[in-house]
Amino acid sequence: MAKAKAYKNLIAGEWVQSSSGNTFDNHNPADRRELVGSFQESTSEDVERAVAAACEAYSHWRLTPAPKRGEILFRLGEILTHRKEEIACDMTREMGKILLETRGDVQEAIDMAYWMAGEGRRMYGHTTPSELRDKFNMSVRMPVGVCGIISPWNFPIAIPSWKMLPALVCGNTCVFKPASDAALTAVHLMEAFEEAGLPKGVANLVTGSGSQAGSAVVEHKDVRVVSFTGSTSTGRIVAQTCARDFKKCNLEMGGKNAILVMEDANLELAVDGALWGGFGTSGQRCTASSRVIVHKNVYQKFVSSLVERTRKLRVGNGLDPEIEMGPVVSEKQKESILQWLAIGQKEGARLLCGGKALEGGSYQHGHFIEPTIFGDVDPHMQIAQEEIFGPVVSVIPCSTFQEAIEIGNSVRYGLSAAIYTQDINQAFVAIRELNTGIVYVNAPTTGAEIHLPFGGTKETGNGHREAAEAALDVFSEWKAVYLDFSGHLQRAQID
Ligand code: UN1
Repeated sequence: MAKAKAYKNLIAGEWVQSSSGNTFDNHNPADRRELVGSFQESTSEDVERAVAAACEAYSHWRLTPAPKRGEILFRLGEILTHRKEEIACDMTREMGKILLETRGDVQEAIDMAYWMAGEGRRMYGHTTPSELRDKFNMSVRMPVGVCGIISPWNFPIAIPSWKMLPALVCGNTCVFKPASDAALTAVHLMEAFEEAGLPKGVANLVTGSGSQAGSAVVEHKDVRVVSFTGSTSTGRIVAQTCARDFKKCNLEMGGKNAILVMEDANLELAVDGALWGGFGTSGQRCTASSRVIVHKNVYQKFVSSLVERTRKLRVGNGLDPEIEMGPVVSEKQKESILQWLAIGQKEGARLLCGGKALEGGSYQHGHFIEPTIFGDVDPHMQIAQEEIFGPVVSVIPCSTFQEAIEIGNSVRYGLSAAIYTQDINQAFVAIRELNTGIVYVNAPTTGAEIHLPFGGTKETGNGHREAAEAALDVFSEWKAVYLDFSGHLQRAQID
């Protein structure tokens, strides 16, 4: 097989090797014989250079008018639209999800590019009356400085875009450390930035491990904002590290999202939703519908239909248009999911379908796991409490709407929740009572759109939201401005 390309870091507009001289290889999770590429194993020295480049670029980028910054993001949107298929194919090759979904991932970045391009001409502050005569008050958004962007592999271009595009339109510069399993898509994004005309050093890329490159970004004194998506355990370390230097820090972490299926629900629709929400991206989404809480009066009917549909899911290489679910991202992820399957059975959950790795034949060289459903799950079981990040759905019976809400809220995470019901009153109570950052009615827990705030409560986040206008709050500081045109001293609260 031909030697796969060796990709470099992008620092100050130059594609450069790591000072370590080392690289790491990425293989296709559907067929690990295929080498997708090799990438720089960056060190703190590389991060140091990237941060220095970002600091240097900040001095002029912050003064570039926001509408001009927005125009570059608009061009980025055009370029990504043009390259959508190529990037989607490479994304499927490197992290496995099916082409339909990787196209959606690129589309999410395109949507964000156009939205943030528009922010370049909005970025609204406030004007407000003064309590004094002949005085004018307003608030304006100011950039913060260098932003450290640490992103996961499950949405390799969407999530970096949620972070970098608002950062850039606000006038910040970035050092981007992508997940190693999604490094090729990160290279694509950087190339698109270059082509869009983003000045050198405004966005820098350093690939490598979280423990080396990632922590060097988080720890660097000149990095003033850290935006992180990943596990709750790593997020806790990121937050603690940022707190030492009073950095702004936005965290998007775990989820254990529930679909509530009420007795009056359109069951066919609910099964469609549970299937898509549970097994899309092989369940490797923060927003995955990993729990389904079903009213006992429709439980049997719902479960048998869900199991029947799940058994029919076509699993395989995501580049094949017939395939409905791809591999999981890596050997490590596969092992972790298999452990959860064992835990579920030990805890006494009823295995209704799936439950093991797919081996042999076309699966021989990939990391495949059967789409799995556990039934009669007790809400206290670990498989009903912890994020599995794989194609595993726990179905939990309940007796009342109230109980469904309580079970829904009984986990430490609070990203997304959904209810299937025809009863408008019940839907509105659920919207109010479900303690999550996102609620869906008659749709599964995935499918967030970029012009609404994205994020969660409890151990999912730390109070920030990504996407939409809310993202600007992470990447800007408010400045309050008072202009006195009276020509004499006016004293607030006194005169
Ligand atoms: C994630 O799972 O990390 O709502 C992000 C969704 C996607 C984004 C998911 N738009 O499922």
